Amino acid sequence: MKKYLLIGFISSLLYTSCKHDSLYEPIDEPPIVDTECDPNTVYFINDVLPIIQSSCAFSGCHGSGSAQDGVDLSTYAGIMQEVQAFDANDSKLYEVIIENDNDDVMPPNPYSRLTTAQILLIKNWINQGAQNNECSDCNTTAVTFAQTISPIIQNNCQGCHSGTAPQGNLSLTNYTQVKTIADNGKLLGTINHSNGFVPMPYNQPQLSDCKIDQITSWVNAGSPNN
Ligand code: HEC
Repeated sequence: MKKYLLIGFISSLLYTSCKHDSLYEPIDEPPIVDTECDPNTVYFINDVLPIIQSSCAFSGCHGSGSAQDGVDLSTYAGIMQEVQAFDANDSKLYEVIIENDNDDVMPPNPYSRLTTAQILLIKNWINQGAQNNECSDCNTTAVTFAQTISPIIQNNCQGCHSGTAPQGNLSLTNYTQVKTIADNGKLLGTINHSNGFVPMPYNQPQLSDCKIDQITSWVNAGSPNN
């Protein structure tokens, strides 16, 4: 089965390949920040934007410099052009990620289809009103691979590091693969933008301090499969 994503109306028609020289433009309005995060709320900055950045908004696809079909998913305002707040079923963004036809689904081949969990996050975020919101809680003590690390990797890295042609010839789709780059130092090196490592996520804003702290705490604990 082919996989893969983004938001093209006439779909993958004009789509050829995603080069990775993307330009990121910051979100236009500052988000509403929630310091006591509601577990039932889907947050745009924490949950939705990273998925869209790693799977849709890079250059050659729907980033600011290269909006395929005029769709720029690099900002909240751009994303809202494809969203009907409170109504996922009437939102182009949602329609293209749940598309059954493998030739029309976004992201397009060879990129991976969004996971069921990612699709649900986007759906719930839209149905909750598609706010430009952010949660600023950061828990670095109860970090586990399943609950913390895997979702971070899935939402920030797998857009490029999955599918039949993963970037850098590196798949990050299971524990063993993530454990390998944790052990050889590349995980912390790339996300911290340390000397001698290609900064990750590639050509995109650095992960939040919270995510970096959580990953660091997990690596320092021996990168357990917990
Ligand atoms: C927008 C696409 C994209 C995203 C998102 C992305 N990467 Fe990469 N990644 C690349 C590309 C392209 C390369 C190859 C870079 C090179 O060799 O110059 C790469 C290479 C790597 C490498 C190998 C680097 C080395 O020095 O050998 C690691 C490790 C890596 N990525 C980790 C990550 C992690 C962890 C994330 C998420 C936090 C991530 N990447 C997100 C595109 C991406």
